[in-house]
Amino acid sequence: MRPILLSQNEIQAASEQYGTPLYLYNLDKIGRQYAKLREYLPPNFSILYTLKANSNLTICHTLAQLGCGADISSTGELKAALKTGFSAPQIVFTGPGKTNSELAAAIEAGIGIIVLESVNEARRLNNLAQKYGKNQDVLIRINPLYRTNQSCEIRERASSCGTDDTNGGQASLKSQTIASSSSKFGVDEERAIEEIAAIDSLDNLNLKGIHIFTESNVLDYNQLLASWTNTISIANRINDQGYHISLLDFGGGVGIPYNSIDSEFDMESFGKELQIIFENNPYPYNCIVEIGRYMVGEAGCYLTEVVDIKESLGQKFIILDGGVHQLLRLSMKPASKYMEVLGRDGNYTQKATLGGKLPTPLDIMVEDVMVPEDLEIGDRLVIYNCGAYGFNHSLTNFALHNYPAEVAYSDGKMELIREPGNIEDFFLNQKLPLPKRRDKKLVNLM
Ligand SMILES: Cc1ncc(COP(=O)(O)O)c(C=O)c1O
Repeated sequence: MRPILLSQNEIQAASEQYGTPLYLYNLDKIGRQYAKLREYLPPNFSILYTLKANSNLTICHTLAQLGCGADISSTGELKAALKTGFSAPQIVFTGPGKTNSELAAAIEAGIGIIVLESVNEARRLNNLAQKYGKNQDVLIRINPLYRTNQSCEIRERASSCGTDDTNGGQASLKSQTIASSSSKFGVDEERAIEEIAAIDSLDNLNLKGIHIFTESNVLDYNQLLASWTNTISIANRINDQGYHISLLDFGGGVGIPYNSIDSEFDMESFGKELQIIFENNPYPYNCIVEIGRYMVGEAGCYLTEVVDIKESLGQKFIILDGGVHQLLRLSMKPASKYMEVLGRDGNYTQKATLGGKLPTPLDIMVEDVMVPEDLEIGDRLVIYNCGAYGFNHSLTNFALHNYPAEVAYSDGKMELIREPGNIEDFFLNQKLPLPKRRDKKLVNLM
């Protein structure tokens, strides 16, 4: 079963007009995802769009127009957010390794909140805020002890993401766990009070609350609820100890189906249960969510054409004009099985491996996917649910293949929202050394 993104005719029209490889979006779908979040999350939630999921300017603009705030993780994303209509006080700066110049740019722009990753970062930010004569609102990111198996870091370490599970690596609720390992993100929960005391003593920072984001692509809402409940408990304990915090940032983590048998995240039940938790909580909180995948993931697909069909040791390979330089899903290869061949409703009875055009064995888009027996060179594949971490998350410089174009439908009208790349893009900002020697010997290829 194909996801409902656009009609076959609309997809066909885009592929004929703009060719392949191509990213194709439906901006109306983004509006529907945002509306679901707004409808079901409790009223004490502010909804932010995470630009790293897809920072195409038209997509950012769509989300700014809908009324989202922005979660950025670089000055590049800060510029993209400001340029596309997010206002500075609606912006939250997250992520490790923020340099002084990035922090200064954020203060200068007047962004709402900076999420601190360590006390050292807090001290650097405080000095800069002092220099600019400003008080900066901040959150401290905490590395909690309690995780579910859906935690990004636990999945990475267990290498479970790359396995061929058909439901995108969803773990059962039973598998809630205590993290025994270190993290590059945030400060450890056991030391949080100490670190909060240190940050609280800095004159130019206002510590508003905490940020905890550990789970990724969760489809079972109970798992995310368990994780967010833990965040609320940590905040309550901090308040119990006399530090007044009122703002919780839960990060992202809401999943989308990457396979026809994956279930939808039940946003309505999730929202209802959250509401009950907040009604019974001893402390009131304002909350932030930073949503990437759920907001734009299902709104985009990737189109690529078959350029070769071959067999090796009994295995059928379909070679495409795209590859992992444009759609990198190393950690969740089964996701790319959510695909169909344009204009062919026939039986998908032939097992094949989809390989991209990069000269590296790394460039396998998906193994053991079913394709029509009569698939031909020139057929076009649609890989669904690529709107998040697609264009922005790939090996774009490998082998100098052009960036794909991006096209979007809105209200049934198709528009080119990014021109296809140009070979010259790769030479930008490079210097070509002048030839020094005249007696250069040519390589003999014969
Ligand atoms: C700090 C932060 N917030 C939010 C997100 C978005 O997460 P998701 O795409 O699961 O909504 C990310 C993604 O990596 C992130 O790093």
